[in-house]
Amino acid sequence: MSAAADEAYSGKNVLITGGLGFVGSNLAHRLVDAGAHVLLVDSLIDDYGGNLFNIDDIQDRVRVNIADIRDQHGMNYLVRGQDYIFNLAGQVSHIDSMRDPHTDLDINCRAQLSLLEACRVNNPTVKLVYASTTQIYGAPASLPVTELHLRKPIDVNGINTMAGEGYHILYNNIYGLRACAIRMTRTYGPRMLVRHSRQTALGWFVRQALDDEEITIFDGRQVRDYTYIDDAIEAFMLAGASDAANGEVFNLGGAEPVNLIELVDTLVRAAGSGRYRIVPFPEERRRIDIGDFYADYAKIESALGWRPTIALEDGLSRSTAYYRKHRNQYWSRA
Ligand SMILES: NC(=O)c1ccc[n+]([C@@H]2O[C@H](COP(=O)([O-])OP(=O)(O)OC[C@H]3O[C@@H](n4cnc5c(N)ncnc54)[C@H](O)[C@@H]3O)[C@@H](O)[C@H]2O)c1
Repeated sequence: MSAAADEAYSGKNVLITGGLGFVGSNLAHRLVDAGAHVLLVDSLIDDYGGNLFNIDDIQDRVRVNIADIRDQHGMNYLVRGQDYIFNLAGQVSHIDSMRDPHTDLDINCRAQLSLLEACRVNNPTVKLVYASTTQIYGAPASLPVTELHLRKPIDVNGINTMAGEGYHILYNNIYGLRACAIRMTRTYGPRMLVRHSRQTALGWFVRQALDDEEITIFDGRQVRDYTYIDDAIEAFMLAGASDAANGEVFNLGGAEPVNLIELVDTLVRAAGSGRYRIVPFPEERRRIDIGDFYADYAKIESALGWRPTIALEDGLSRSTAYYRKHRNQYWSRA
């Protein structure tokens, strides 16, 4: 971990939207250790990844405001006095974005614009880091996928996240409101939602493996990249601390791209339980599959010195150890 990035946050006011979720709560742990005054804003909407247990061991060291980023008046107030805002609140399920597109629009697009307006009017010197996604590229035309690749989202969530990201860069460029975006690829680790299967496939596989169930894999040859959460947090810390990041978008990537069979095989070994079965791709799934995907992270590597450090096997061991210990806090809503 980079001590230089941590120094920037010591004694500073930091707001994390979506701070009780997977990425937000892991970031909160790191920021608290770096000496920041951390405020978490989260709506704890049922079915989303927010979980108070995610901050159980730091609850006395952070402030929590259960609020919705769609509330413009509340956000106008909450952004005041903040040195940094990590903007991670989001409707994350791609499946839900198709079933309920307007909620996705309200949270991932409209509320993002409102937050930027709140900052422009009430706190124009704040630094913002937005959590974007490599899903906005859609099916890759070439691999690995760089930031210059055409963006062709394949679902409503991708379109709204693309707009949310675009607003951040626009406000940086037009108003000088310092903002940048991290395009995360599939990110995994302790504190991710595993209550249901609609948010992350890997999270659900982790649960199935620990429950010693059979994991069904469609085809299995699809190649993907996976970032362990601590590596992703390092990227957020670096991007927040560096003015070289302002106005930029950065891909993250994984230590090594793997196919689905290799992924699940490694998981089952890490868990010491579970098994898998490979079945042909159902036709309706094949139509929306993007094929192989892995991101090129050379840009953030050269601009900020970031690269993934945690191998899949290690990350999955850490993840299964965490959920084995805290299963009761994650298998169902407390
Ligand atoms: N986890 C990944 O693999 C991944 C990959 C790419 C991008 N991202 C992005 O990172 C961000 C965080 O994702 P995550 O994995 O931590 O998901 P998560 O569901 O664990 O966390 C999101 C948090 O935002 C909160 N939230 C949602 N709507 C809100 C609202 N209207 N007001 C206030 N809080 C609200 C939720 O309650 C939840 O705690 C999201 O924007 C997501 O799109 C995540």
